[in-house]
Amino acid sequence: MSSRKIILAIDGPAGAGKSTIARRLAQRLGFLYIDTGAMYRAVALWAMRTNTDLADSHRLEQLALAAVIELSPPGSVLLNGEDITALIRTQEVSGAASKVSAVPAVRRALVQKQREMGARQSVVMEGRDIGTNVFPDADIKIYLDASLDVRAARRLHDLEASGDQANIDGIVREIRERDQRDSTRGEAPLRQAVDAFLVDTSHMTIEQVEQAILKIYRDRTSNGKELEH
Ligand code: DC
Repeated sequence: MSSRKIILAIDGPAGAGKSTIARRLAQRLGFLYIDTGAMYRAVALWAMRTNTDLADSHRLEQLALAAVIELSPPGSVLLNGEDITALIRTQEVSGAASKVSAVPAVRRALVQKQREMGARQSVVMEGRDIGTNVFPDADIKIYLDASLDVRAARRLHDLEASGDQANIDGIVREIRERDQRDSTRGEAPLRQAVDAFLVDTSHMTIEQVEQAILKIYRDRTSNGKELEH
């Protein structure tokens, strides 16, 4: 059996369905699931708790370097040993994470951690810059997208499911602002890598998206079946 580490990179804007699909694929393939957005969210939460000015890049860098972030079991997020899984999904943290992620020194600190994780074992890693910056040589690169309306409706559904108050207009505004900031920042902005496969999930079910990516995966890796659970 091959021991080569496989990197499956999934990038795309907020609400395109990255987390759901990345988690399923990781389970299916027996890979580690890494939600890099959760890492930026963890640093943002720590900054909020310590009243750190989000314009203070030096202090934010210190937090990012010092943060001990664990992403297991899959789907859970631990910051310095504390389970913060539910705490990082609020709209407030979303906004702060987007700002924190625009700080180059924060990105350097977290990208370093992400590369270390990917060097240890095969991973499905999702984020904004995985295929363009973190692992430019990733074996498979997927760019997941969906229309703004569909993405906002999904976000509303998620927030309601976790008991949060939200309205669709506010969410559309928040996603639009976040997309704008994430795709226009100077350091590693959100964009599709030239060699990434575009999958528009607007009118697809999760099963269809999963099958589409698995097909790409099998076509791209000669040992795809061998590695699959
Ligand atoms: O995917 P998410 O919504 O949990 O990400 C939170 C924020 O982190 C988002 O505004 C963009 C940023 N992010 C990033 O800049 N690079 C990544 N690889 C992942 C997330």
